[in-house]
Amino acid sequence: MFRKRTSCVRLFSTSVRIQANRAIVYSQNGQPADVLRAVTVPGLGAPPPQTANVRFALSPINPADVNVIEGVYPSKPRRTSFPGARGDAFVGGNEGLAEVTDVGEGVRGLAPGDWVVMKASQVGTWRSAANVREDQLLKVPRLDGLSEVNAATMAVNPPTAYCLLSHFVALERGAWVVQNGANGAVGQAVIQLARNAGVKTLNFVRSRDDIDALRRELEDLGATHVVTYDELGDKKSIKAKVNGWTGGQDIRLGLNCVGGESTMAMAGLLGSDAHLVTYGAMAKRPVPIPASFYIFKNLTSHGFWLSRWYEGNDEGRIKLVEELARTMALGKFKEPKHEILTIEKETSDEHASGLIRGIFQRMASGGFKKKVILKVESSD
Ligand SMILES: NC(=O)c1ccc[n+]([C@@H]2O[C@H](COP(=O)([O-])OP(=O)(O)OC[C@H]3O[C@@H](n4cnc5c(N)ncnc54)[C@H](OP(=O)(O)O)[C@@H]3O)[C@@H](O)[C@H]2O)c1
Repeated sequence: MFRKRTSCVRLFSTSVRIQANRAIVYSQNGQPADVLRAVTVPGLGAPPPQTANVRFALSPINPADVNVIEGVYPSKPRRTSFPGARGDAFVGGNEGLAEVTDVGEGVRGLAPGDWVVMKASQVGTWRSAANVREDQLLKVPRLDGLSEVNAATMAVNPPTAYCLLSHFVALERGAWVVQNGANGAVGQAVIQLARNAGVKTLNFVRSRDDIDALRRELEDLGATHVVTYDELGDKKSIKAKVNGWTGGQDIRLGLNCVGGESTMAMAGLLGSDAHLVTYGAMAKRPVPIPASFYIFKNLTSHGFWLSRWYEGNDEGRIKLVEELARTMALGKFKEPKHEILTIEKETSDEHASGLIRGIFQRMASGGFKKKVILKVESSD
């Protein structure tokens, strides 16, 4: 059985021995809709020393997960061998919120009932439970007001938004940022963190039939202005409009997760000494920047990859998770628009495989306009 949930799921009990565990796996790279399958694997035994048994509550599907399964992403998962998976397989998923159910000898920083996200990348989060080394887990403060959805999505998109807003330009209150893909999960996080800091955002999105509804949604999150890429076509008109909004103030930070011609036009709205940061490539196109932007406006162009920032920066990461958790618990950061899809424990592996492939087919054809979050139930 497969059902959608749009609200928080129930909490689970602690210190349970998980009898049967399901994982969404693949044995070779390819399109997720072709290669993913669900397998039931044996339950977890007592955790070995320095490890914890965890049960996944919610595991987001992010765009990079698709690239990992295709085999084109720089972070590679490790093959796991377990009965039921017909030999070695990779478990899908990089991000997820889990609850510690049991800890092995020598585990000092975790106890049953704690919330954790994955510190190591590509641990494989699309499953019901796992045994994970303590040093691959990061504790998330279980604060009143911090929802499971916000906690589940806090290892990738909100920290990316935070880094984008804080690593390149010192943004004073009243400063402006321009971004594309503004309705994506990172874009929504940028809008909210910028608003919390008194920074104004100029947000580009693709046009659609219900553009007014989207504009209102983003404005509710704190977007200062929401504009479609179509409006970038008329350079003079958009520049005049933007000048009117900013009062002529230079925009010094541009955030790009799309690429292609519209990114060049967006970069044209940046002022002198600005920084354009590319962190995604949703249009699968290069980022064409005219030489004049570099020569006459002293533009600096960067790339940003959160995984690189995480390397060797445990302390910064812990502080960031604590800060984001507090912000979320205080209600100053709304959950991304999302849909929770549950693979129920009663369903067969065959049926579950069909469901998971169906999700990726729908995703590939743009059928979800929100973050998709998996919940893989276990029998216990
Ligand atoms: N560098 C890093 O460390 C890092 C960290 C997190 C995320 N990312 C990357 O950032 C990007 C966004 O991630 P996300 O989680 O925010 O994704 P998301 O929630 O799925 O949002 C994707 C955004 O991209 C837009 N988009 C998709 N295809 C497009 C196209 N062909 N042309 C123009 N816009 C398009 C979508 O607009 P529509 O609604 O119009 O489809 C939406 O605004 C991804 O590339 C992801 O891999 C990078």
